[in-house]
Amino acid sequence: SSNGESVPRDEIQDLVAGFPCGKNWDGAPLYFYKGVWYPLLAIKGAISFQQHFIARDTDIILASMPKSGTTWLKALAFSVVNRSIYSPTESPLLTTPPHDLVHFFEMDLYSKHQLPDLEQLASPRIFSSHSHYETLPPSIRDSGCKIVYICRNPLDQLVSSFHFVGKFKRENVKPLTSIDEDFDNVCIGIRSFGPFWDSVLGYWKASLERPDKVLFLKYEDLKEDIIFYLKKVAELLGIPFTEKEEKDGVIEEISSLCSFDNLRNLEVNRSGVHPSGTPNSAFFRKAKVGDWCNDLPPSMAERFLKIVEETLAGSGLSF
Ligand code: A3P
Repeated sequence: SSNGESVPRDEIQDLVAGFPCGKNWDGAPLYFYKGVWYPLLAIKGAISFQQHFIARDTDIILASMPKSGTTWLKALAFSVVNRSIYSPTESPLLTTPPHDLVHFFEMDLYSKHQLPDLEQLASPRIFSSHSHYETLPPSIRDSGCKIVYICRNPLDQLVSSFHFVGKFKRENVKPLTSIDEDFDNVCIGIRSFGPFWDSVLGYWKASLERPDKVLFLKYEDLKEDIIFYLKKVAELLGIPFTEKEEKDGVIEEISSLCSFDNLRNLEVNRSGVHPSGTPNSAFFRKAKVGDWCNDLPPSMAERFLKIVEETLAGSGLSF
């Protein structure tokens, strides 16, 4: 890909016009392209990313479905990678939202009029994506770059999305008032970057086939034993914690720095707006495991879980 060169945006515009269109939970349009439902703010960036991004062997890609712990993973990976540059008291995370330190390909880097100049970035570069494994540009899958995927209990992910889409008013989008609105649609996977099961399955299989390259994490596991999984991340990235670092408490420091309570309370995350138009504070809500039961009636939970179980059957992955 070239730098600063303008993308043939009109071509993408025409292309998008021909895609199957669906409705997100809040009624916002979604576009179906190569097996994935994209929101308007991501579709052009996603295509441009697929067409233009060239990976380096040293790149680190953080992947997820929205509302699965992306913000947390960004903070953790950034801290692991930069731990020899910044001590926890001078971490850029204290003054910069995680989403401004690790940018999304679809909603941020490739959503602009000009192609991003990523060549000038020093290695290792850390990026993030909500795209499914199968749609990643070939150079990511064929290079030595590392992928860390985070997923979350599907019911908690569902409820987190429900609150997220209901949080801000957008033009021509009616506010979502009740959780059972349009649930039939949700149950066939028509959601931002859905279907959920296709996203998790793609990365799950990749992690089994190439464990040296793809690490598959669950939000709940991180909540349970963050130290263990921080070590896993550092190992995958080829920068394991040394004995001295372990003894000096470096892993604990990173986990405290990136904890929900710490990040959420920072002024920088309480104010300001992400380039996608989302207030930074919207990325921090409750961060509780099993919180779905406060919002989702058991019959809806059962219906959705049954679909997830059916789609994951035989994969070895379960929630
Ligand atoms: P809840 O809505 O259940 O509270 P994403 O970052 O992928 O958008 O996911 C957002 C979810 O992760 C929200 O879940 C949010 O509260 C939670 N979250 C944000 N920062 C976190 C952190 N540092 N540790 C744990 N969970 C976090």
